[in-house]
Amino acid sequence: MKTEPPVFTAEQASFLVHQRVARLATASSSLGNPHAIPVCYAFDGRLIHIALDEKPKNVPPTRLKRVRNILENPNVALVADRYSEDWDLLAYVLVHGRAGLVEPETEEHAAAVRLLRGKYHQYERMGIEKNPTIFIRPERVVSWGALDAPESVEPIMEAILGRRSVRRYLDREVPEGAVERVLEAARWAPSPHGRQPWRFAVLTREESKMLLAEAMGEEWRSNLQMDGQSVEVVDKRLEGSRNRLLNAPVLVLLCLYLEDLDVYSDAERQQNETMMAVQSLGAAAQNMLLAAYSLGLDPGWMCAPLFCPEKVTGALGLDPKLIPHAFLTLGYAEGDPPKRRSRRSLDEFVVYKD
Ligand SMILES: Cc1cc2nc3c(=O)[nH]c(=O)nc-3n(C[C@H](O)[C@H](O)[C@H](O)COP(=O)(O)O)c2cc1C
Repeated sequence: MKTEPPVFTAEQASFLVHQRVARLATASSSLGNPHAIPVCYAFDGRLIHIALDEKPKNVPPTRLKRVRNILENPNVALVADRYSEDWDLLAYVLVHGRAGLVEPETEEHAAAVRLLRGKYHQYERMGIEKNPTIFIRPERVVSWGALDAPESVEPIMEAILGRRSVRRYLDREVPEGAVERVLEAARWAPSPHGRQPWRFAVLTREESKMLLAEAMGEEWRSNLQMDGQSVEVVDKRLEGSRNRLLNAPVLVLLCLYLEDLDVYSDAERQQNETMMAVQSLGAAAQNMLLAAYSLGLDPGWMCAPLFCPEKVTGALGLDPKLIPHAFLTLGYAEGDPPKRRSRRSLDEFVVYKD
């Protein structure tokens, strides 16, 4: 008999994507003794993946109790939970399923490692690609509590380290209040002379997104053709960008607005004034990304409007003085983003210290 696909509600899936640690319970089949252990995990929207990275390395990964149990008895449970002194924020998602191992040097294994390294930068420097990974195929999901409560009880570093660019979303509505909070965060960003040289357009309706996708599509097509891309490649990339626009529940268009800036008689200072405005748009964007993440949303960034500003203002009927720079996408991630996320070491960034 074919197993039914797992039934995660959107709230359960989002909660699982956002938590950083879960407890994995396994049991041997002979004695049935339960064994539970905290694990880092990544969720691809279907399967849950766990790396084997034992420290100290005196036990080969296949001798680990959790692995021996899974090989004997694949039935497992995994619980991800949130604790807070504010008990209105308590919540958990409990997944029952069947587990197995994915051997290295397979496509599935490479994808799981990529996903885990994308979620936990610490895995970048660990040889997790040499060991099998554990997968859990969820069969039954139970949850309790305030799955949707904002994560803002956590300190700012939690948001900075936890945020990732998300490119695929669940079909799940974003509360209007959450979008307001994200915009409010932008309002408090630093700006040159406090002029706040930005304006935002919020798009949620399918029709507006479609209008935009059509208008931008023409420009993308001619740009890609200019780069000498084949018709098939151009079509595929256009389809991808279009789907991304339509798939994101909310698009926030970030525009530069230069009318309130200081005016100088020389071009160089004027250029620097504009540069400061662009820098502050970046600060506003980062405020929004972190606010969105701490509200339980998953933000993404699309630079496409920068390449066709007039098409964007034209399609939406916006003031032509606005200069579109980017879209922030807001919604709930379909799963952990597959893109590998690596960073240079701090030593490379700090070029002078005295
Ligand atoms: C100015 C800027 C433009 C970006 N444009 C895009 C884009 O057009 N498409 C996209 O998928 N990601 C875009 N990104 C997101 C980056 O790819 C992403 O931040 C980077 O890969 C690091 O991953 P992380 O955000 O998950 O840490 C952009 C980011 C910035 C700051």
